[in-house]
Parts: sequence; C-alpha cells; structure tokens
Amino acid sequence: MAHRGNFGSKLGIILATAGSAVGLGNVWRFPFMAGHNGGAAFIIIYFGCILLLGIPGMVSEFIIGRHSQANAARAYHHISGGRKLWRMVGYLGILTATIILGFYAVVAGWCLQYLYASLLGHLNGDANYVIDYFRSFSTHPLKPCLWAVAFLLITHTVVSRGVQKGIERASKLLMPLLMVLLVTIVIASCLLPGSQEGIEFLLKPDFSKVSSSVMLEALGQAFFSLSLGTACLCTYASYFKRDTNLLGSAMQIALLDTLIAILAGLMIFPAAFSVGVEPDSGPSLIFITLPNVFQQAFASMPVVGYVVGVLFYALLVFAALTSTISMHEIGTAFFSEELHLSRTKAVWILTIICSLLAIGCSLSVGAVDKIALFGLPLLDFCDYITAQIMLPMGAFFTSLFVGWFVDQQLLHDEFTNNGTVSTRFFRIYQFAVRFVVPVCIALIFLHQFDIL
Ligand code: PHE
Repeated sequence: MAHRGNFGSKLGIILATAGSAVGLGNVWRFPFMAGHNGGAAFIIIYFGCILLLGIPGMVSEFIIGRHSQANAARAYHHISGGRKLWRMVGYLGILTATIILGFYAVVAGWCLQYLYASLLGHLNGDANYVIDYFRSFSTHPLKPCLWAVAFLLITHTVVSRGVQKGIERASKLLMPLLMVLLVTIVIASCLLPGSQEGIEFLLKPDFSKVSSSVMLEALGQAFFSLSLGTACLCTYASYFKRDTNLLGSAMQIALLDTLIAILAGLMIFPAAFSVGVEPDSGPSLIFITLPNVFQQAFASMPVVGYVVGVLFYALLVFAALTSTISMHEIGTAFFSEELHLSRTKAVWILTIICSLLAIGCSLSVGAVDKIALFGLPLLDFCDYITAQIMLPMGAFFTSLFVGWFVDQQLLHDEFTNNGTVSTRFFRIYQFAVRFVVPVCIALIFLHQFDIL
C-alpha cells in the first residue's frame, strides 16, 4: 500500500482544514443565499446550525479519521469494529465529494477565466455588456469546459505532490494571501458612499422570509461551508497528529470559516448597495453583478476599480483551490488505498472522473439544454442533491454511528486524547451527537418534504 502522509505542524493542520472549509461556499454561495433568504435572519439560523450541528459533526469526523488513519470507507469500517454496513457511510461521503468537485470545478473555472479577463480589462463595460459577457461565456460549448479542466489539472498537480509537500504547503501560502485580499476589499467596499445600507442588510434580520426551506438551505449551507458530511474532514483528520486537540481545532476552523463568510458579505453587499444593485440576484451575483459594481463604485478612480476587480477574482481562485484540493484528496486516498494503486495513478483516476462530470455540468448551463435531471440543469441538480440531501444525510448517519454504535470509551479517549485534554465538554458533545444532531436534521428534512 502507498505510504501514508501526515501534516507536519499544528498550523499546517488548521490552515489545510480551514482551507478546505473556506471556499466558493463562503464567497460565492453564502452571499447569494443570505441575499435571497432575508439577510441577517438567514445568518442567525446559519450560526445556530454551525454551533449546534456543525461543530459536533466536525469533531465526529475528526475522531473517525484520526483513530483509523485510513481513507473514509476504511475508517468507518475500522472504527465500527469491522461491521461492513458502516462502510456505506464512507462511500456516501466519497461519492458526495466527487460530485461536488465535478460542479465546483465549473464555477472555479469561471473564476479563473474572470481573473484572466479582469487582468486584461475585458470586463469593462456597462451592465448589459457584463450580462452578455457572462451569458456568452458560460453557454459557450468549449471555453468553460477548458477552464474547468484547467482548474482540475492545477488541483491535480498539488494533490499529486502529497499531503505535506502539496496540500500543506499550498494552504500555508494561499490562506494568508486570501485573508489579506479579503480584508483589503472589505475596507474598499465599506468606504464607498451609501455602503451603510449593505452593512445594515447583513446585520438587521428580516424574519418574514424565514420558512422551513430557508432552514434546510441554512443547514445545507452550513454543512457545505464546513465541508461536513463528505468525509473530507475524516480524510484530513487521518493525517492529524495524535496530540491534536480535536474540539479546539473544530472550533477554530468553524470560527474562521464563519468569519470569512461574513467578511465576504461585507465585501459584496456594501458595494452592491452603494450602486443600487439588488442583493438577491442569485448564483450569478459575483459574475454578473459584481464586475459592474466595482466599475461603478470606483468610477472616479478607475485604477482602484481595476485593482479591486483583479484582487477579487484572485481571491476566488485561491479560495476555490484550497477546497478542490481537499475534495480531490478524499477520492485519491480512497483509490490509492483500496485499489492498492500508486498515488500518481489514483490522482489521475479522480481527475478524469471529475473532468467528465465537470464537462457535463458545464454544458448543462446553456450549451446543451438536454443535460438535465428532474427538470434541473445537471449543474444545479448536483448542487441541490449534494448540499441539501447527501451532506445532511452523511452528517445524520455519522452522528448516529458515533453516538450509538462506536465504543463510547474509545470515543472518550479520542475526544480527550487519552485524558490529556479536558474532559469537560465530552458529555455535551455526546449528547449533541446522540440526540441534537440527528433529531434536528430529521425534523428539518421531514418538514421540508411535507411529512411533518
Ligand atoms: N467547504 C467548501 C466551500 O465552502 C466546499 C467543500 C465541500 C469542500 C465539501 C470539501 C468538501 O467552498
């Protein structure tokens, strides 16, 4: 079997795992979800999901991965004491991550093309020009496919270098860069005249828009953003050190991820409101609305507008890359360990599967209108089925598994690093995974599908 890698340092562990969490989910998905679902009201529910369900869910995946030191399928199997059925939860996670990578690569490819276009100044023009630009690019039969595959190949290069030299090194470089870019753009955006309205939109709740589907969306978004329910955290935790404080790490990562989502809102909404753009324009917000917003907002200082535009798309590319790396690693670890392949071969298998899926998703956006499932273009279908069904299901089964089927002494020992870390929160954690997480996910599900 291929030699297993490990993260080299505590900082590496936090940055790589936070790198997986922080991605297009924060900068692309979170702002349009919040814009659509009542701004601050959505954010409050989202916080609740992170605290009550997200952090216990993260700790559970960490425990499974670190204890077993294996890919997700084998890890669930091993920690269950060899019961085959639980392997299925591992398979579900690996499948979910692979589907997400397929459609995520398409949006990441758009970001790469927009970085290139903004560098060359091709995004300058009025609102109609920017709309036409996005339409003609995203529905082109070839260009977006090539950008998506290019993005997957960049991911491929990093993952094939291994855990420490590839993943950890890239995260240590990209995450600080991402923070600097984000804070710079937030400052520029919040200094614009009329930006207060955007800030208020993010901070003042409008509960009239809250419904059960908003709750499910908040739940799906929280899981998506924390990379939860995909076995990603479990795979990364298999490279953790034995003395890593699992609860502490989960809290730090969840905090960082939430902070970055809020900062992304503070980067986008103040600028959008300052030029009178509605916040709920949907998934295309950052591709249709924003290029124009930056130009208009900085009309008196075109150079600043240009720089902010370029930095923004660079930020998206970095954020996306640290996440695609983690999704890729889940399948890579699985194929190399289960099929006894070299890492190089395993990396290629995943790149090829995801490229094919990405091409299908990309074409479904407009170039070929027959690529649809249940009335949704393949890309939207993959987004819906993973974020709102497969991720909550993965987290639901993981929680039941850890709370009721895993040896509780083992759970305690892993949670407390064999008694060397405070045991104070163990009972709360155990209560959360046994009752709170499965019951909340089940209730939201049943309500959404009109069963309750
Ligand atoms: N958490 C990532 C984001 O916010 C997406 C992701 C999902 C990454 C699942 C890995 C696994 O963009």
